[in-house]
Amino acid sequence: MHGWRTTKKDKEDKEGRKLRDMRKRLIVLKIGGSLLNYLEELKSFCKTLSKISETTKILVVPGGGIFANTVWDLQKKIKFSDDTAHWMAILAMDTYAFLLKDMFKGSKIIYSLEEFSFREKALIFAPFNLMKERDPLEHSWRTTSDSIAAYVAHQVGADLLVLVKDVDGIIGTEGNVYKEIRSEKLSGVGGSCVDEMLPILIKEYQLECWIVNGRYPKRLEKLVSEGETVGTKIVP
Ligand SMILES: Nc1ncnc2c1ncn2[C@@H]1O[C@H](COP(=O)(O)OP(=O)(O)OP(=O)(O)O)[C@@H](O)[C@H]1O
Ligand SMILES: [Mg+2]
Repeated sequence: MHGWRTTKKDKEDKEGRKLRDMRKRLIVLKIGGSLLNYLEELKSFCKTLSKISETTKILVVPGGGIFANTVWDLQKKIKFSDDTAHWMAILAMDTYAFLLKDMFKGSKIIYSLEEFSFREKALIFAPFNLMKERDPLEHSWRTTSDSIAAYVAHQVGADLLVLVKDVDGIIGTEGNVYKEIRSEKLSGVGGSCVDEMLPILIKEYQLECWIVNGRYPKRLEKLVSEGETVGTKIVP
């Protein structure tokens, strides 16, 4: 009897260790809508993602891109509330999720945290349902897909959030790219590269965050394998 118990406990310990190890390798990636301006590069970035996801667990959060920009433009033109714009822009992220699934071979879209599993390595999170159910973030343009990605990363216990955009990182006034920047400093120099809520959430969640240029997929490969790359590391 005792022997059986020990065996079962060993097995549980092993499973737990395995889960914790897999957890360590969980990366949440927001694929920015800005990359839709570079379609060929976006496609090859998604190919790299398929390769990386063979060994590393990837959860993609879509950006808003032209879909969300249409909401912004429309709100300026016909004037509707920020509440309405908030939900429309999040639906825009769900729309982009479908397009990304098409490019990211082997991936699957999930619509809730319950569907999240450590066994599947290539997932795309369509955030509308979760956001509508929990409604955790401010309804304004201070909150965009960057903040939603940080929220999702925190919910799934990821220790790394990568915001994949069309720039080499946060660019300073002299044209320099910051290798590292503290979240508190971001609102001063980040321009419109990240939304206003992002630094606050990163600090609150103590989440390591990188801005990486998706036009050069090797940079992401390096980040995944070596823990650093060309890009900006945002320190909480
Ligand atoms: N200080 C800055 N450093 C870097 N990029 C900046 C800065 N200020 C403004 N930008 C602009 O921010 C853009 C990236 O942010 P943008 O929101 O357009 O992309 P995204 O997050 O990929 O897209 P989406 O929000 O639609 O998902 C860059 O293309 C750049 O022009
Ligand atoms: Mg943006």
